Amino acid sequence: MSTRPAAHLVSSEYLAKYQKATELMKALPADDPRNFTQQANVHCAYCNGGYNQVDFPKIDYQVHFSWLFFPFHRMYLYFYEKILGSLIKDPNFALPFWNWDHPNGMYLPQIFNDVNSLLYDKYRNCQHLPPTLMDLDYSGNDPTTTTEEQIASNLTIMHKQMVSSAGSPKLFYGDPYVAGDEDTTKGAGTIENIPHNSVHRWTGTKKGICGITDDPPYGEDMGILYSASRDPIFYAHHANVDRMWTIWKNLEAKKKRSTGDALENKKLGYQYQDVEIPWLQSRPTPLRKKPTKGAARKAPLVTLSQTLDSKIAVELKREKNSRSKAEKEDQVEILVIEGVEFESTEYVKFDVYVNDEDESGPGKTEFAGSFVRVPHKGGDKKMTSKFQIGITELLEDIGADDDDDLVVVLVPRTGTVTVNGPIRIEFDSCKD
Ligand code: C2O
Repeated sequence: MSTRPAAHLVSSEYLAKYQKATELMKALPADDPRNFTQQANVHCAYCNGGYNQVDFPKIDYQVHFSWLFFPFHRMYLYFYEKILGSLIKDPNFALPFWNWDHPNGMYLPQIFNDVNSLLYDKYRNCQHLPPTLMDLDYSGNDPTTTTEEQIASNLTIMHKQMVSSAGSPKLFYGDPYVAGDEDTTKGAGTIENIPHNSVHRWTGTKKGICGITDDPPYGEDMGILYSASRDPIFYAHHANVDRMWTIWKNLEAKKKRSTGDALENKKLGYQYQDVEIPWLQSRPTPLRKKPTKGAARKAPLVTLSQTLDSKIAVELKREKNSRSKAEKEDQVEILVIEGVEFESTEYVKFDVYVNDEDESGPGKTEFAGSFVRVPHKGGDKKMTSKFQIGITELLEDIGADDDDDLVVVLVPRTGTVTVNGPIRIEFDSCKD
């Protein structure tokens, strides 16, 4: 069993090995499939329409935006890690994980910042080097919060994405996507959405900053999918994403008072360094103001059909309220926003609030979550997806569980988005 260490806690011996292995991988002949660039290209082959599905020539094989996200990246990292280990003849070598869910890990890890190391990548946002704290809810602009506020907000976001909003397998993993499925409007899982996407964008650079002369136009390397894995930090980022999968499964098993089968990573021969998980306790605090019921539209199902260029508030009728504890344990209430259309080459983000038109920020319960997309090249330029999160716990916490309706507020942050589908409430089984 090998143990993946937290990137900010590794020893200098470990670092020397990791650097050596990366150096050897980069030095392999260009046509060796284990070569670093070849490995990086494996990732973009599966996100830029590089391959069609077997027997379905018209359908791109896409590993993001659905339940393929976790398993694809788990195996992608697994082989990358095995190559590194074999090059230094250490079969127990394990990748580090970027521990962005812990206050001490909410920085670009130092081991990646030495310009003389092959773990360094010049296409990173130089304004986000330590001591700049990460913003897990990154909108494309740096926030003006204090360190304490930012840490608290990051932990609350983690709690929401891992616990409050992720109360069923579909919510956590993303929508099912099987061979031949032509519907490309799948909803991504909570963690893929945030902080996976936002950390990608936070790390990559863009035109006009950092004095880079060959301006990367799209947020390279990490900020756009085709180039993301050219940055060695990609693998540490995804190791933590993978760690979230393991943690979520353990939390679910605990909820069901079973041991379940939550340790698939151990079957692959690796586990994660046991570090404290501070966000478990970071349930957000509610504002609990009564919503204003002004201009909002009232309907059981609201179709917006409009470009999100300013804040939009919609009043949504609930079909069931005051559900019993047993009902809630059986089915999670989900807020769904369908027909979210955007340009695939843009970084897109909008925020969603329930019963709060004042945009009180991610630290509050009323902040339901954000829709985030990292851009990619190739394939269709116009994409359609949906936003979906569990709101059972949110409604309890804001004292709206018995209400007949809620006010759903959409706040644009960056990129051009049109909402062309219904906004509605749905119920989903909490069971696997
Ligand atoms: Cu395949 Cu973080 O993306």
